[in-house]
Amino acid sequence: MKLDISKSGVVLSETIKAKAEAANELLYSGKGKGNDFLGWVKLPSSIDEAELAAIEAAAAKLRAKADLVICIGIGGSYLGAKAVLEAMSNPFQLLKKEQTNPTVLFAGQNISEDYIYELMEAAQEHSIGAIVISKSGTTTEPAIAFRLVKAAIEARYGKQEAAERIVAVTDKARGALKTLATNEGYPTFVIPDDVGGRFSVLTPVGLLPLAVAGVDIRALVAGARKMEAATAPEVKFDDNLSAIYAAVRNELYAAGKRTEILGSYEPRLQYINEWWKQLYGESEGKEHKGIFPASVTLTADLHSMGQYIQEGERTLFETIISVAEPKHKVVIEADGENLDGLNFLAGKRISEVNRMAELGVQLAHVDGGVPNIRIEIPRIDAEAIGALLYFFEKACGISGYLLGVNPFDQPGVEAYKKNMFALLEKPGYEEATKAIKARL
Ligand code: PA5
Repeated sequence: MKLDISKSGVVLSETIKAKAEAANELLYSGKGKGNDFLGWVKLPSSIDEAELAAIEAAAAKLRAKADLVICIGIGGSYLGAKAVLEAMSNPFQLLKKEQTNPTVLFAGQNISEDYIYELMEAAQEHSIGAIVISKSGTTTEPAIAFRLVKAAIEARYGKQEAAERIVAVTDKARGALKTLATNEGYPTFVIPDDVGGRFSVLTPVGLLPLAVAGVDIRALVAGARKMEAATAPEVKFDDNLSAIYAAVRNELYAAGKRTEILGSYEPRLQYINEWWKQLYGESEGKEHKGIFPASVTLTADLHSMGQYIQEGERTLFETIISVAEPKHKVVIEADGENLDGLNFLAGKRISEVNRMAELGVQLAHVDGGVPNIRIEIPRIDAEAIGALLYFFEKACGISGYLLGVNPFDQPGVEAYKKNMFALLEKPGYEEATKAIKARL
């Protein structure tokens, strides 16, 4: 992976470099804020063979039984698997006659009646299994979805077979899902206590659904492991890509750049953007501060957001994930009539046009006052994606400490739940119900 900050307009001082190094050290010494949630820091190097083998064995069992696996979870219990799966998948796979892997679809990441209805309706035509993921085991959205999926699986296969088709990923001891999994006899994987949801993609939360979908989880972990070594505290600042990225974005924030737009010219990375938005939004958006994480997929969004980025409020900067080598080769052919005037492109690869779009946009945006950070990954494969995920996680920890917040809590996500339960008249919320109904 390469990181180019030459068009960010930031010249890093020795002071910010030292601060970023100190922030990275805090992640290892455990003396910083939120120090009971640092399990992710050494996760790649600490995943052992037995754990990987157990995940692969559970995945193989589900793969043998089901051609559709419904993966239930929300937030950190959803976005990592979704992001990697989208990045690794052929978007047109379902159009092919032959399917070599089960289809993994997601539920519990919304409360849409239509979404769950249509998913369950389509599931009737398939042999189904499920992975239910919730660290707390009490989150409403996945709990509702799991009720429906569990009932459908039990109705179709009976309770005993359901326990062969459902795997739970949850806390080792606490929570309703843990109790339910124990009572029903579901195989269960543990989310470590010291790994928060948004940092959990390299635990069974991400690895199990990905293994079911046929993703090479060993290569994913290997990539993350390399990045863990490359961003360790003993690596000097100028070689530590996560520290550099964290320092630059904090300098841009201090200079008034309040929104960071993550973008890429590969649509299969769209959900990496979504995963990144949760990682940074939930980690840094507190105490009335933090960079607002936004995203674009290019070149599509140049035809929607391009105008704003070029000429709107000058409070933006961009971070582009650039992919050095596509998987496939497509050459543009000459056309006898040349009615579209594009014969000057004949003989060129589509990726060359994409690259020139990227470079042209970069300079146009920089000229328009939007600083640019460029992250280059060699290709989209499991190893490169594993490295990218860990790069962003490490940078997020450093960046949160530079900002002065606790990057590992999320007190703000509770507020909506209180109102929702009051409106739904949950027992124990009687006073809140009266108060909120009076405000409607
Ligand atoms: O990052 C987080 O901690 C959250 O996004 C959680 O992952 C999300 O709220 C789901 O929580 P749980 O896994 O407890 O159901």
